[in-house]
Amino acid sequence: MANADRQLAEQLRRARRDVHAAVLEGFHPLKHALRFGAGVSQVVTTSRERLFELAAQLAPDIVAALDALPVRVVAEEIFTLLEPPRRGEQIVALAARPHADVKRLLDDTGAAPIVLLDAPTHLPNVGAVIRTAAAAGAAGVLTTGVHDPWHPAALRGAAGLHFATTVARVPALPDTDRPLIALHPAGEPIDRAAPWPPRAILAFGSERRGLGQPLLDRAHRRVCIPMRAGVSSLSLATAVAVALYHHRDG
Ligand SMILES: C[S@@+](CC[C@H](N)C(=O)[O-])C[C@H]1O[C@@H](n2cnc3c(N)ncnc32)[C@H](O)[C@@H]1O
Repeated sequence: MANADRQLAEQLRRARRDVHAAVLEGFHPLKHALRFGAGVSQVVTTSRERLFELAAQLAPDIVAALDALPVRVVAEEIFTLLEPPRRGEQIVALAARPHADVKRLLDDTGAAPIVLLDAPTHLPNVGAVIRTAAAAGAAGVLTTGVHDPWHPAALRGAAGLHFATTVARVPALPDTDRPLIALHPAGEPIDRAAPWPPRAILAFGSERRGLGQPLLDRAHRRVCIPMRAGVSSLSLATAVAVALYHHRDG
């Protein structure tokens, strides 16, 4: 391995553990990062031609931004050392995480809801939720628990849509005047006619355990998405999608 490749591998290894960095694996996370104004510092690929072909086909709007970036081309056997092994487009990029101001997010007077994930366990699920939240125009996604919602696996699951909303991990939900609604299979059925109150925080539990008691106790309402008998729950990202699109304007 040449010295420059070794340095690159080390740079990526460090970035994966750096809370200020985002490692974008694959084309779609890079596409959304550029589209939503991320500070991308470097792109690494095995084929510049293939990278620009993909951009021209799938996202012509980002071609100019991509062209302005340093694109490093490495041999396939080097690339496999830079990324966890998986099938993909052999593209990895580095970006800076935007600063997430949680107090400002919570104090914002706009009506858009915030999604709160209580100790989620599966990073691709976190990504799928962030993707839905960005699409539905949620103000942000907050997570509690040990997992970093900016982990490369979550960025992959979200197709990089972290850059289209606010995403942050918090030790616990801070004090806030926002109405807190717990999505819980044993809650009152969601009222199809009534929108969420403005500025709602919609709280969802973890995949296995559901919502923790402290959040259930704190919630102003517990609401369920009705299911046929025998079905115990929806998947986390599906529940978030139903809730966010429950009464969305436009
Ligand atoms: C996979 S479920 C967890 C199931 C868990 N065994 C439980 O009993 O809550 C993940 C989260 O999605 C939400 N969820 C799933 N299905 C739901 C439903 N039918 N109504 C309301 N929330 C639901 C809840 O917030 C739940 O904690």
